[in-house]
Amino acid sequence: MRSFTDRVSEIDISGIRKMFEAARTDSINLGLGEPDVPMPAHIGDAAVDAIRRGHTRYTPGAGMPELREALSEKFLRDNNVRVSPDEIIVTAGASEALHIVLQALVEPGDDVLIPDPGFVSYAALSHIAGGRVIGVPLVDLALDPDVVSERITRNTKVLIVNSPSNPCGSVQSRREMQAFAELAEDYDFTIISDEVYEFLIYEGEHVSPAEFTDNVVTVNATSKTYAMTGWRLGYLAARPEYIEQFHKVHQYVQACAGSVAQYAALAAITGPQDCVCEMREQFRERRDILLRGLSELGIECPTPAGAFYLFPRVGDGDRVSAELAGRGVITVPGSSFGAHGSEHIRLSYTASKTDIACAIERMAGVSMSGVSIPGRSV
Ligand SMILES: Cc1ncc(COP(=O)(O)O)c(C=O)c1O
Repeated sequence: MRSFTDRVSEIDISGIRKMFEAARTDSINLGLGEPDVPMPAHIGDAAVDAIRRGHTRYTPGAGMPELREALSEKFLRDNNVRVSPDEIIVTAGASEALHIVLQALVEPGDDVLIPDPGFVSYAALSHIAGGRVIGVPLVDLALDPDVVSERITRNTKVLIVNSPSNPCGSVQSRREMQAFAELAEDYDFTIISDEVYEFLIYEGEHVSPAEFTDNVVTVNATSKTYAMTGWRLGYLAARPEYIEQFHKVHQYVQACAGSVAQYAALAAITGPQDCVCEMREQFRERRDILLRGLSELGIECPTPAGAFYLFPRVGDGDRVSAELAGRGVITVPGSSFGAHGSEHIRLSYTASKTDIACAIERMAGVSMSGVSIPGRSV
């Protein structure tokens, strides 16, 4: 019998994958974590052009200088944060960025504070890094600085903050981000700020904790903003002492992000941004249709201010998700995102309006307790 490391064999496969495997062929998929809209054409043109010009070799490990320059300008323009190109590493998606940061920061026995419910990779990657995963229960579906503060010990190494959030769609306020930054300074830990949904905010503002402290690694990607999930292009930004260590992990696991993907990302970041607003408006409309449909079924769900997910409380999330799958609607049980998500399901509104309407019809008749919770409603 072959033996594998505990830190890998103890990890369960994502509940999201399990749901897809159980899907009927005519299912409507409200389980996806990616935009269904096409990638803007000018991004593809830039990639084709890069291939034609023969840009198919390794790039510098940290990423092409012109892309890091563009990202440095983007940080100032969009996030009010000064980051030099040397403080940026271009990665294979936000996923690789999360992995290298946790590998570089977390020693066995260190505590990693993650939102519960939170994005599935946080617990898994922290576990692979040897860390102790401490789920921080959300208040009204968002991280609360007081609750975070109660979980801090001398072992706390990292706090992961994700705004707008997957799976809840919640947006953290400026005051909260400032409070997380103060905790990071007072207790000398690092915040990993996962900002992949930064442009998918329908109400309110996006605030980066890097505005308030240097104890932050900002993780982002072109994946969601430009409907480019398949290109695997992300990036991180942090002060030089962090970057020096992250480079070592990045160099040996990835060498560099894909060259063609980097040209595509350069076109995305420096090109016209109206495509992003158009996508956001489409999602806002679909969010409201799905919310109305749920409300008519007696499921009250707080109106999330960001991302493209609803996270209604339905009773036993596993049962409801399985029953919905039987009726041809794929959702993700909230338990996939942490123990505190178990009474919820996650619905993505990255499906056409027709599919959303059809999904609502199919949902009628599935018993959902529809307990109303305050949530962070806009
Ligand atoms: C919060 C969050 N962070 C990171 C990722 C991974 O992004 P990427 O596809 O760029 O690796 C996802 C993907 O669903 C996500 O929801």
